[in-house]
Amino acid sequence: MVSDDLQVKKLLQSYKINSYQFCRILIFAESFNKKYKIMSLQLGDTAPDFTAETTEGKINFYEFLGNNWGVIFSHPADYTPVCTTELGRTAALQKEFDKRGVKVIAVSVDPLDKHLGWREDINKTQSVNVEFPIIADEDRTVANLYGMIHPNASTTATVRSLFVIGPDKKIKLTLTYPASTGRNFTEVLRVIDSLQLTAKHTVSTPADWNYEEDVIIPVALSLEEANQKFPKGIKVVNSYLRYTPQPELS
Ligand code: BEZ
Repeated sequence: MVSDDLQVKKLLQSYKINSYQFCRILIFAESFNKKYKIMSLQLGDTAPDFTAETTEGKINFYEFLGNNWGVIFSHPADYTPVCTTELGRTAALQKEFDKRGVKVIAVSVDPLDKHLGWREDINKTQSVNVEFPIIADEDRTVANLYGMIHPNASTTATVRSLFVIGPDKKIKLTLTYPASTGRNFTEVLRVIDSLQLTAKHTVSTPADWNYEEDVIIPVALSLEEANQKFPKGIKVVNSYLRYTPQPELS
C-alpha cells in the first residue's frame, strides 16, 4: 500500500499533475468504464436492466420479466438464413416456454423497421407467428451490457449469445455460439427444466438428462438422510453416485 502511494506520487510529479487533477481523471475513468466497458456476465451475476425499442413497443426488461424466468438471446443480423431458422424455432416452441413460465426476448443491432419486415419473412418461411419481442439495439446498449459483441469474431455484429435469467434476476445459464452454428432450442428447454428442478429440490441432473428421468442425490447427504428425503426410492451405484426418481416440479 505504501509503495503504491509512493508510485502514484512519483507518477503525479513526473506528469506535473496535482492531486485535484488526479481525482478528476479517476472520476472520468470510472464513468467511461461504466459507459463503455464490455461486461463479461458470469453465472450468479445480476442481469442488467435496460429499456429498449422492440417489435412489441418500448420495453423495460425487468418489467417485461416480472417474477418469471427469462431468456434473452442475440443473433448476428436480420434477413440471414441461420438466424431466420433460430427465431422460427423459438416461435414454434413458444408454448413450451410458456408452460415453463419463461419470457423470451431476442436482440440484434438492426433497426426496428428491418426487424418488422424480417419478422414477416420468418412467419412466412418457418410457418410460425413470432410473438416474442425483438429488440432493435442500434446503439448497442443491450449488446454491450450483455457482452454480446465479441470483437475478435465481429466488431459490429452480435454473436449468438443466450442468457437464462431466474426470477431473482440472476444469470443461471450462458451460451455462446458462433454465427455459423444455429443453437439447439430443445437443449435450451432441457437446461431450463434442470434449472427449475434444481432450484426447487436439492438434486442434480446427470448428463443428457431429460424431464422425468432419474436425478442425482447430493454427495453431502448420508444414506439415511437420503432415504428420508427421497421417499420414491434410491439407487446406489457407489458412495458418491446415487439416483432417485425425479421429484415433482409443480
Ligand atoms: C446466418 O444467420 O445465416 C448468419 C449470420 C451472420 C453470419 C453468418 C451466418
